[in-house]
Amino acid sequence: MQRIISAILLSVGFVGSAGAVHAQGMTLGEFEYRNSCVACHGVSGKGDGPVTDFLSGAAPLDLTVLQKNNGSVFPVTAVYKMIDGSEVATAHGTRDMPIWGDRLRERTAEDNDFPFSAAETEEYVGTRILALIEYLASIQTQ
Ligand code: HEC
Repeated sequence: MQRIISAILLSVGFVGSAGAVHAQGMTLGEFEYRNSCVACHGVSGKGDGPVTDFLSGAAPLDLTVLQKNNGSVFPVTAVYKMIDGSEVATAHGTRDMPIWGDRLRERTAEDNDFPFSAAETEEYVGTRILALIEYLASIQTQ
C-alpha cells in the first residue's frame, strides 16, 4: 500500500512539474535554463547572475553572443561539449562551470521510480542538452 501511494504521489509530482512548464508557456530548454543556469548566466543570459561574485576564476560568459562571435553561425558542437563537460572551458584547463552531463546522469540515477538503462540515461542527458541549445539559439543577439 505504501508503495502504491508513493508511486501515485511521484506520478502526480511528475505530471505536476510537466504541467508547470506548460502553464508558464515555457519550452523544456527554457525550463532547464531557468532551473540550472540563471544563477550564473543571469535571466538575460548575459552573464549577470547573482552568484557570479563567488566564482573563483573567469566570469560566466555572455551566452547571447555565442553566434555573433562565431561568424554568425551558432556553434552547436562546442556548446554541446561545454554544457556536457566533455571539454574544459579555458586554455589553462580550469573550469568554474558545473559539469552538467554528470549532474543530469545523477538525476536519472536518483530516480527510484523508473530504472533508467544506460541508453535511456544518455537519451535523457542528450535531450536536456539539446533543449538547452535550442533555447540558447533563440536568445542570440543576431
Ligand atoms: C556556477 C556557475 C555557472 C552555472 C550554474 C552555469 N555556468 Fe555556464 N559558465 C560558467 C563560467 C564561469 C563559464 C566560463 C568558463 C569557466 O570558467 O568555466 C561558463 C561558460 C559557459 C559556456 C561557454 C560560453 C563560451 O563563450 O564559450 C556555455 C555555453 C555555458 N556556460 C552554458 C551554460 C548552461 C547551458 C548552463 C545551465 C545548464 C550553465 N552554463 C550554468 C558558470 C556557470
